[in-house]
Amino acid sequence: MTDAMNANANTHAPAVIQRHDYRAPDWLVPDIALDFDLDSEETTVIARLHVRRNGAHDRPLVLDGDGLAPLVVQVDGQPINDWQLVDQQLIVPLSGNDHVITTEVAIQPDQNTQLMGLYASGGLLCTQCEAEGFRRITFFPDRPDVLSRYKVQMRADKAAYPILLANGDPIASGDSGDGRHWAEWHDPHPKPCYLFALVAGDLAANADHFTTSEGREVALNIWVKPDDVPRTHHAMTALKASMKWDETVYGRAYDLDVFNIVAVDDFNFGAMENKGLNVFNARYILADAESATDLDFDNVEGVVAHEYFHNWSGNRVTCRDWFQLSLKEGFTVFRDQCFSADQGSPAVKRIDDVRNLRAAQFPEDGGPLAHPIRPDSYIEISNFYTATIYNKGAEVIRMMHSLLGPDRFRQGTDLYFARHDGEAATCDQFVAALSDGSGVDLTAFHLWYEQAGTPKVVARLEHGADGVILHLQQIVPPTPSQPNKLPMPIPLRVKLFEQADGRAIGDEQLILLDTAQQSLKLADKADAPILSINRHFSAPVIIDMDRSAAALVTLAAHDDDPFSRYEALQQLMVDILLADMRGEQPDIAPIITAVQRTLEHAAADHAFAAEAVLLPSEAFLGDQLVRVDPVAIRQARDRLRTQLGQQLLPLWTKAYEDAAPGPFSLDRVAKGKRRLRNVILGYLMAADEAMGAKTAWAQFAQADNMTARQGALTALVNSNAEQRMAALNDFYGRYRADNLVIDKWFTAQAASTREDTIAQVRRLATHADFTLHNPNRARALIGAFAANQYAFHDASGDGYAFIGDMILATDPINPQVAARLVPPLGRWRRFDDARARLMKAQLERILAHPGMSKDVLEQASKSLGA
Ligand code: TRP
Ligand code: ZN
Repeated sequence: MTDAMNANANTHAPAVIQRHDYRAPDWLVPDIALDFDLDSEETTVIARLHVRRNGAHDRPLVLDGDGLAPLVVQVDGQPINDWQLVDQQLIVPLSGNDHVITTEVAIQPDQNTQLMGLYASGGLLCTQCEAEGFRRITFFPDRPDVLSRYKVQMRADKAAYPILLANGDPIASGDSGDGRHWAEWHDPHPKPCYLFALVAGDLAANADHFTTSEGREVALNIWVKPDDVPRTHHAMTALKASMKWDETVYGRAYDLDVFNIVAVDDFNFGAMENKGLNVFNARYILADAESATDLDFDNVEGVVAHEYFHNWSGNRVTCRDWFQLSLKEGFTVFRDQCFSADQGSPAVKRIDDVRNLRAAQFPEDGGPLAHPIRPDSYIEISNFYTATIYNKGAEVIRMMHSLLGPDRFRQGTDLYFARHDGEAATCDQFVAALSDGSGVDLTAFHLWYEQAGTPKVVARLEHGADGVILHLQQIVPPTPSQPNKLPMPIPLRVKLFEQADGRAIGDEQLILLDTAQQSLKLADKADAPILSINRHFSAPVIIDMDRSAAALVTLAAHDDDPFSRYEALQQLMVDILLADMRGEQPDIAPIITAVQRTLEHAAADHAFAAEAVLLPSEAFLGDQLVRVDPVAIRQARDRLRTQLGQQLLPLWTKAYEDAAPGPFSLDRVAKGKRRLRNVILGYLMAADEAMGAKTAWAQFAQADNMTARQGALTALVNSNAEQRMAALNDFYGRYRADNLVIDKWFTAQAASTREDTIAQVRRLATHADFTLHNPNRARALIGAFAANQYAFHDASGDGYAFIGDMILATDPINPQVAARLVPPLGRWRRFDDARARLMKAQLERILAHPGMSKDVLEQASKSLGA
């Protein structure tokens, strides 16, 4: 622990949990019966646990609790007095090997602002138990390797909570006579308590059904507030497509007669895969053209698939301990990425996923919070639901998939599911099953599970009498507590092209770099070969290679991997922007040529063209610099945008007109056109603000869908155009009753490129519609601001102070949400001394504040550094 944390006098340092300390549970709980008397002010919970001693030992039963006081403790039906409550844990001495333990507690859902355990949201009662929320509901061994069969009884007021849902199948229900009613649900599949869920409320369903490949008739219900039912169709379509896809691609069929989804307004994350009863953040269920962007539609599809896929990768096979989190999350993200690629455009999906990885995971991997995809220690597990565990975890599985190919990968996953069905497994067991099932030894991949940090691959091409030789070197940077690294297995897809005409030299090759240095011959001879490397982003690494602007222009035009064409254009832009920041006068002719050519071919794939001509983000440019200079980045990027906008103005205008949408549709072409139009708006505004604003306002006013309206709003909100306030006011007035859309209104202003953004954000934090109690709203303003590099890093330090204020204000309400605001302050090492000092001052202020949660303390102390 750091000095800063120890200095925090009135908290004793929170315990560090170590992966190597894992021990099998002392007691198992094969069965549990839960009885809920539901009420938003006070709910009583009676739990009957059938416990069984696990192995020969004489240790007592230890049940986790959080904020609970036992009203009753019984062993085999008899009240006992020799229980103890130590550090929130209920300790019960037991003489035999099998007992029934009964406890009763009372909890207050209304007062649960953390949104973990049983809480109230928009008139509903719902639960969130992953990772450690079940201990806020009842006393239980709250760890994922204790699997139980659940029987759940709920009683509640019939008018306020007409619908009562829990995991598994509905068994019985009835009227209690006193205005209350009851329902009983049984889940036949043993599960860890983090997958427990119940929901009670006034809900209406979009009801449908699906027949599985095994002939099971499954009733599907998406439960929402009655008015929201019309906005559930996209989610239902995605659910059925996911069920079919998992059968086709993985041979996995659904295993209960009902599958329920519930949308709630207040939710800490995206959604939760509770067995047979997925609970969703409403933003990942509700979508219609008026209120949701195309990105929202895609996110609904992806998250519905993600949670559904967890039924096998997570629920049927779960995690032995939380260090294995990537076992279910990395694999499930990989599965949902492949699913979404199959539903739409694989190239554009890959570009989006890689952009997200670079925006969220690379900075994490290069900063003070870096951790391997299987961490070695944690203080608060909620802090480890990270881009590393999820997205880098998915990349690691993708690399193994690439090496095996789809058929052998499937043999591996078949064995994994057969071997570990009904078990709590480890990442090592996953890799072993892939190896054994495929017949390909993947044990070298253990390094990807152990070592943090983004590897850098230095590539150099040499051509001469001996042919075309590729020299590779890999460098895995030091990360906190991991100063020295071993070389990793890095699969690289490579292909050569001729400089003069872009003709391919040979086929793509998949090479495996698994030593510190390696040289290999790629071709016998070539005139002027250029290298396309890490095609389709075959490994989550940074490639360091000198390629001329001419070579990048050739690749941008001729590479047959669209992802690599995109990469070539991005590299071209990065090279020019970095040269500009160094004070050079870079030649922009090559990028003009490449963008021009891309626009001329835009009709072939509008969505791809939109990605390809988009300038690298300010944050990504910051990551390319040793010292981030937010002002220089903004200026260089603005200059290039203006030059591209002005020099290609007729082409932008024509491409904008050519991409005119017809009647609203979610087909690929229509979505691509909307995306391209929104990107072009940025260039039009840069070329001539008054002219661009006219186009944006017309798009705003005539829009029949949220993608067009939000795109136009964003363009105007970034400007000084006279239409700016009109757009903001119109948008607010039109959507003030729709929380998910008002979130966009907050975000557009918090992400604005204008100089007055901090002042606006401070003002918005006092707006009547702003609340720290709703995580979506908090993130819409605060999260979006912290991601706005130029505004957040204002030299005054006002941005840092604002985030500090928000962390202090949010922590007592919701520590998980507060802790997620800390990492932006932890990037101080990447900035000049003055900014670094101001950022550190906020971290110190947070650490010195009495009573902070361990969630925030862990992130702030690690961010400050020992
Ligand atoms: N398991 C969820 C998912 O990725 C994540 C999740 C939902 C979560 N709610 C949470 C994690 C609350 C921590 C705390 O699908
Ligand atoms: Zn997940």
